[in-house]
Amino acid sequence: MLDQRPVSFSGVQPSGNLTIGNYLGAIKNFPEFSEKYKCFYCVVDQHAITVRQVPAELRRRTYETLALYIACGLDPQKNTLYVQSHVPAHTELAWMLNCFTMFGELSRMTQFKDKSARHADNVNAGLFTYPVLMAADILLYQTDVVPIGSDQKQHVELARNIVDRFNQLYPDTFTMPEPIVPKAGARIMSLAEPTKKMSKSDENENAVVRILDDKDAIIRKFKRAVTDSGSEIRVADDKPGVTNLITIYSCFTGKSVEEIEREFDGVGYGDFKIAVGQACAERLAPVQEEYRRLLADKAYLESVMKNGADEAAYYARKTLSKVRRKLGFVNL
Ligand code: TYM
Repeated sequence: MLDQRPVSFSGVQPSGNLTIGNYLGAIKNFPEFSEKYKCFYCVVDQHAITVRQVPAELRRRTYETLALYIACGLDPQKNTLYVQSHVPAHTELAWMLNCFTMFGELSRMTQFKDKSARHADNVNAGLFTYPVLMAADILLYQTDVVPIGSDQKQHVELARNIVDRFNQLYPDTFTMPEPIVPKAGARIMSLAEPTKKMSKSDENENAVVRILDDKDAIIRKFKRAVTDSGSEIRVADDKPGVTNLITIYSCFTGKSVEEIEREFDGVGYGDFKIAVGQACAERLAPVQEEYRRLLADKAYLESVMKNGADEAAYYARKTLSKVRRKLGFVNL
């Protein structure tokens, strides 16, 4: 039977070792939707091949990302957890939506501009139409809310434009999705260059804290984090390094910015950075332990993937046959 609750959908690319940006901006927030929403959380392996991947690594990271979803609190009994390429309806809908997406719209996507500059030798069509596949992911499930970090907001806006355009031509086809960005942690910055987003593909390991980094590495990276001139620990536009560390500390401890500024009043940057590292390591330790336990059980992960894909396909089929009918395709 179809679950009648509103729908939450999100996805993570298995394209690198996930960072605390992915965790705080997105994955950590997924479980809170499980009560009120019918939740689909997808490992988007097809998005990952828009840049070159080593096949064995992509396969390994697909299992790892699924294991992390569960280790971060997503119960496979309460959430549909699956892998994008196991549900071909995503790419099928993406083709149809391609025909309702404008070249100009895609040219304006900042992620495309960034990635095509970074991978200048491989500016492939998939990189360009990437946001259309993402729109298909979302629209396929008649999604109401999309929990994401702020860097993905522009892509959800594009999905909303596609819904507007499509529904105007073919009324009542898609639900209008709403991006949900966390109040704190929507944009975790690089520890080395705090005006830049923390990114899993950063070549400077000191710039990124990985969800699976061990305690020593986490504390070492925070100790090396770039701070700003002055010595005060407070949030300010001219203190991007300290502001980022306060945000991270706030997300891991649940303390407010005011509480943190009071707690570290008169404390030096060095001690503050160690405290941030410790809070991060402490909060991640149980996630890492559960992750390792899950990763050792491949058969279990495969059963989650299989059940998730079956369920997702069931929901996807409903939307797909509606779209086919609206567009004038012959449904057999
Ligand atoms: P991806 O794999 O780059 O990132 C996964 C999630 O992590 C968030 N995120 C961050 N949040 C805060 N600070 C950061 N530094 C940071 N870095 C990443 C991202 O915003 C994202 O929520 N295109 C998407 C994957 C995707 C998707 C979807 C998401 C495909 N289809 C449908 C939602 C709905 C992506 O590349 O995320």
